[in-house]
Amino acid sequence: MADAPTLRTLGAADAGALAELAARPDVVRMGDHLDTRRASDWAAWIGPPERDGAPVLGAFEDGALVAAAKLEPRTRRRVAHSAKITLVASEKRRFDRAVDALLDALVDAADRWLQIVRLDLAGPAGHRRLKRYERRGFALEAIQRGAILTDGEFIDEATFGRIRPGTEPYAPPPSNLELPWPPKGPRIKAKIRQAREEDGPAVAEMMAETTVVWGTMQIPFQSPGMWGARFATNPPDRFFTYVAEHRGAILGMASVILLGELRRRHVGSVGMSVATRAQGRGVGRALLERLLQTADALRVHRVELGVYVDNDRAIRLYERCGFVREGKQRLLAFRDGGWVDNLVMARVRAS
Ligand SMILES: CC(C)(COP(=O)(O)OP(=O)(O)OC[C@H]1O[C@@H](n2cnc3c(N)ncnc32)[C@H](O)[C@@H]1OP(=O)(O)O)[C@@H](O)C(=O)NCCC(=O)NCCS
Repeated sequence: MADAPTLRTLGAADAGALAELAARPDVVRMGDHLDTRRASDWAAWIGPPERDGAPVLGAFEDGALVAAAKLEPRTRRRVAHSAKITLVASEKRRFDRAVDALLDALVDAADRWLQIVRLDLAGPAGHRRLKRYERRGFALEAIQRGAILTDGEFIDEATFGRIRPGTEPYAPPPSNLELPWPPKGPRIKAKIRQAREEDGPAVAEMMAETTVVWGTMQIPFQSPGMWGARFATNPPDRFFTYVAEHRGAILGMASVILLGELRRRHVGSVGMSVATRAQGRGVGRALLERLLQTADALRVHRVELGVYVDNDRAIRLYERCGFVREGKQRLLAFRDGGWVDNLVMARVRAS
């Protein structure tokens, strides 16, 4: 038996060895990449040498790279307390201890030095390897149906979360939000059309409204130019964004984005918001139905979204449109002075 694995940070010079490791079928099956990724793609994954960059660790046995793992802190402000671990490792038992060593090192760094509150990690549902994640404090949070294409089939993915021991989860300062949100009112028959660059400023204004900031991952200050630039430059074969327009005003926006990874192109991710003054009046429903029409026309297998556990109105809307609860991600986002849990919901095509 080889010596215990040694660990060290990977750099651009390791990209070739990583590409070779990652291309093995027993590694591909555990990940979300394909064996077509080149060394330059893996060099990009490792990233440039940065002072505070996302660390990529390699496990070596007898001088050879046998597994790698990346700890990637999230950059969006509302989830900046969380990080994702991606493993590049064979599913075979022989590599379990390399995986254990990598996870132990990254979890320790996250807990003791990086102040990361929430770590997440995913793997093929039901795989025996997942037990090892649980032993390190990761808890199964959701089974995401048909989330990943493996050997020609859409298989379920198990997603795990780990909350840093000692975290005091729900201690928000007193809220100054004025609840409740608008009650149901008479329906507005808005026109649903594609978002255009010139809609940007009106969308930014809506996204900064308190009810929208409360229900989404937006921040209360929006750059007016950002949305228009996104509408103009998002690849039109993967990003579909609609707005609801009524009497010349933008009352809502919804988008479905097909995920970028080749093995996740069958998955569409939904986000939506309606202006406070128009909520509860059928605009959200009209936008979501339009999104789902587009998803169905493209035969998108899985349409997924996240919604805070106490956003009852949004949850009701999603359930009426065929979305099913798949699990709960603990302390996913920061909202109104505290962390909030997030429901994972999805609508999966029958065939
Ligand atoms: C969640 C949101 C998109 C829903 O859109 P909406 O236009 O307010 O919802 P609709 O009026 O189309 O209602 C859709 C369903 O929700 C339910 N609903 C709407 N208002 C409700 C209310 N005040 N109380 C209870 N249920 C309500 C109804 O069941 C309705 O179904 P129905 O058409 O069969 O009656 C919108 O309220 C919003 O943008 N909220 C703030 C941002 C946000 O939370 N975004 C979602 C992030 S996941």
